[in-house]
Amino acid sequence: MKNRLSHFPLLLTMMISCAGCGNQAPKSYIGVFSAMDVEIELLLKEASIRETKTFGNAEAHVGTLKGKDVVISRSGIGKINASSGFTSVMEHYDLSQVIFTGVAGGTKDEESVLDQVVGTKVVEHDYGYQGNDGFVWYGGDPGRFEPGEYYECDSALVDLAYESSLKVLKDQKVFKGVIASGDQFIASSDYVAYLNKEFDAYACEMEGAAVAKVCQTYEKPFVIMRTLSDKADGMAHESYVDFMDEAAEQSNAIVLKMLESL
Ligand code: ADE
Repeated sequence: MKNRLSHFPLLLTMMISCAGCGNQAPKSYIGVFSAMDVEIELLLKEASIRETKTFGNAEAHVGTLKGKDVVISRSGIGKINASSGFTSVMEHYDLSQVIFTGVAGGTKDEESVLDQVVGTKVVEHDYGYQGNDGFVWYGGDPGRFEPGEYYECDSALVDLAYESSLKVLKDQKVFKGVIASGDQFIASSDYVAYLNKEFDAYACEMEGAAVAKVCQTYEKPFVIMRTLSDKADGMAHESYVDFMDEAAEQSNAIVLKMLESL
């Protein structure tokens, strides 16, 4: 009798810790992030969402998509919104990998609207020193007075994004290369020429480098991928308005294809 009773505390602990065993939250999630609602719209239509929570400026939808546990979140436009929104969501959910989806301006002559750009590296193009001789890029740390930093996307995710883009797209081209982020909507051929010369950029947008920096700090594998809504030139705004929905949907369709293989 004494022996059997001595097992009682252990049994009780096991029973308590197993209460709701069939109903446990997933250990980790694939995080899919964007700046704007339209850039996750198709994903949310396809997903089965069990909860939506707001963390500061970020709205996070938690559920399953293509059989995978996901957190789908948009945090607003620009690097500040992206880094604070992404960080708050990441603090609440263990993210195994991160995909940033959305639209961008194309910065290469050979690109067309609705082509796809998969970032191999991301850079903050507008961080630097503005002096009498003009702007000098320090990309992240002006105190060092050295050329700044590029954030490397995860090579396996880059390859998957690239292969998935080829499978989804019909007439559009797919490019791999540098994505340049800054807190400006670019609608200037001169600035596009600068982005090419300084960074060999394939696309410009307003959030990727912020999320990339946080991912690098917290050692989360990530990829930034964008469909071109415009060419960042004098017609960029008109093109953006006309093609944003289609471009956002295309980028989502590629994310759906990626999720099948993750
Ligand atoms: N997102 C889409 N087009 C853009 C552009 N031209 N500049 C910055 N972000 C963008």
